[in-house]
Amino acid sequence: MRLSSRSGSVEQSHIRSMTRACNAMGGINMAQGVCDLEVPRAVIDGAKAAMDEGINIYTPTEGLPRLREAIAAKMQRSYGIEVASEQVLVSDGATGAFYTACLTLLEPGDEVILFEPYYGYHRSTLTSLGAVPTFVRLEAPEWKLDMEALEAVVTPKTRGMVICNPANPSGKVYTREELEAIGAFAEKHDLIVFSDEMYEHFLYDGAQHIPALSIPSLKERCVTMSGFSKVFSITGWRLGYAIAPASVIEAMAQFNDLIYVCAPAPLQIGAAAGLEQLGEGYYGILAQVHQHKRDLFCDALRDAGLAPSVPAGAYYVMTDVSSVAGSDDFEKAMKILEKTGVASVPGRAFYHDDAGKNMVRFCYSKPLEVLEEAAERIRKLR
Ligand SMILES: Cc1ncc(COP(=O)(O)O)c(C=O)c1O
Repeated sequence: MRLSSRSGSVEQSHIRSMTRACNAMGGINMAQGVCDLEVPRAVIDGAKAAMDEGINIYTPTEGLPRLREAIAAKMQRSYGIEVASEQVLVSDGATGAFYTACLTLLEPGDEVILFEPYYGYHRSTLTSLGAVPTFVRLEAPEWKLDMEALEAVVTPKTRGMVICNPANPSGKVYTREELEAIGAFAEKHDLIVFSDEMYEHFLYDGAQHIPALSIPSLKERCVTMSGFSKVFSITGWRLGYAIAPASVIEAMAQFNDLIYVCAPAPLQIGAAAGLEQLGEGYYGILAQVHQHKRDLFCDALRDAGLAPSVPAGAYYVMTDVSSVAGSDDFEKAMKILEKTGVASVPGRAFYHDDAGKNMVRFCYSKPLEVLEEAAERIRKLR
């Protein structure tokens, strides 16, 4: 059968082939952000009890009221941001939230600015819908926002921009000043800001998460995406959400219904129980544990003669692998895998051109004993 032109636009072949090669040799997969850590008891127990209590049928497409309210309450508790539950849409992961947001807000041909290095799903979601990503590069190791570069890519077709805060893959955490500058820029050019805040609780060295919604100029023009995959280690449950003006959520809900019908009913209760029962202490420990893992793995990378760009947030580390043999990022990632049994993602997955050819990304959200083993192996590269 002939495939549609859009089917070629969502290739992730290099991540897949690294994972295949890693599995074939029984290696440690630090390529994908699967987050195979322990799920909090409250979340598991909440979902189990919900199944036993018969919460197994379709829910409203917007999500169960209890979960929408728990998300709104958490925005208030964590950030002092007032959100009505009508402004919350529960979807099948932050992935589903972004897809339905793009379906709702973008026309084919609309340009949307992405910061490079970008998260591949952002680019693929846009291209699969006929929107056109344009790129503004942030440079390692500081990944500083360059407002001039941002102004330079705006055209009459520019309709929006995506920020990933904290960023996958760079680990950049946006400052309030940067977000205010983005807010002023979005206002000036009448843009939508899609703010992916999936890693909001993975922050290091005292960094603070500033939600896009806390910037007054972004309040009415941003769609916030976040979810439970990472924070509760439930990537396979497919639960995330969007926060936007109620009229936008109402329109997004139509697509959410069409594509997913609803998020899994008992699992929504599990997530709600997690939000209700786990306080700020839980998120603080999560950040501390990951900071330890970041330091442990970055030390090993340095010992191996590689140059990690130490992340301020999220749980990936972009690493300069110029010193590794190979003509490009893919060959270098394969060489690292062959020599150490540790898989990474070739840098090209995060750039539209060959700017990633001396980079790879490692995901260090691994059980501690696995990470220690990976660090030992990486040191062998020297
Ligand atoms: C930046 C970012 N957003 C969204 C997701 C996916 O989230 P979900 O599992 O909720 O669809 C990921 C997963 O790696 C991610 O890195």
